[in-house]
Amino acid sequence: MSSNDILSHAEAGVMTITLNRLDRKNSITSAMYGAMADALATAQADPALRVVVLQGHETVFCAGNDIGDFLNQPPADMESPVFRFLRGIATFPKPLLAAVCGPAVGIGTTMLFHCDLVYAGDNAAFSLPFVNLGLCPEAASSMLVPQMLGYHRAAEALLLGEPFMAEAALEVGLVNRVVPPTEANGVAQSVARKLAAKPISALVETKRLMKKGQQQRVLEQIVEEGQSFARMLREPAAKEAFGAFMEKRKPDFSKV
Ligand code: COA
Repeated sequence: MSSNDILSHAEAGVMTITLNRLDRKNSITSAMYGAMADALATAQADPALRVVVLQGHETVFCAGNDIGDFLNQPPADMESPVFRFLRGIATFPKPLLAAVCGPAVGIGTTMLFHCDLVYAGDNAAFSLPFVNLGLCPEAASSMLVPQMLGYHRAAEALLLGEPFMAEAALEVGLVNRVVPPTEANGVAQSVARKLAAKPISALVETKRLMKKGQQQRVLEQIVEEGQSFARMLREPAAKEAFGAFMEKRKPDFSKV
């Protein structure tokens, strides 16, 4: 990983984690997952840090897993960086915000289900293309997407895997506000600072009470999805999908 692929910056009680790998559309490598998991652990442990903001660039939030890196070094077990990151966002006790513009593919969308507040640029395009890659959902999205969208809209998002735009995300409650892309990071930052001025004990206890009913189930779902995902990654459908991406052609699933 280039040391600049993930930037973290702390100011006024807010840690801002920035995906900064624009030449690869902010796709995430294993090293980047590790850096984000470490940043979250630092923010959790440091009493001076009260809120975390995840952000990308005004043209792109995140193109999902880096496909080449993912094929070269698939997650070995539940201690691998991607799972450390997923557990980190799923159990993060302090407020977690995101600013999302442009494409938010795969993990770029599923991580948002673990954020407390999400601000989107009007160019945001969310997608959950797991089926189209011969895979199953991750980050407990097979549970959280039906919960938030309702079953039929979830089936549309997860089975068809077609992108949906900021306004649709606002309508289903995945995002709190849609703003011009140049303003999204700034809006998230100003809400984060407002939160950072509130009593942290009250924020943490309120979030704990809102989440406690299902946190254990979310963690179990992440494990079960992870096992299926790892198996499916080795199967012909995923091999064809990723091969097609690398060769810049349409996949042919007629035999898988
Ligand atoms: N992994 C690795 N490389 C990626 C990537 C990914 N997930 N997403 C984009 N890139 C690379 C492209 O291969 C391209 O590389 P090149 O310049 O060597 O050709 C470069 O980033 C720019 O991407 P490009 O597709 O030209 O940008 P775009 O603006 O036309 O489209 C996306 C942006 C995000 C819509 C598109 O890149 C995309 O669909 N990416 C794949 C997303 C995906 O399937 N993610 C799930 C992974 S599990």
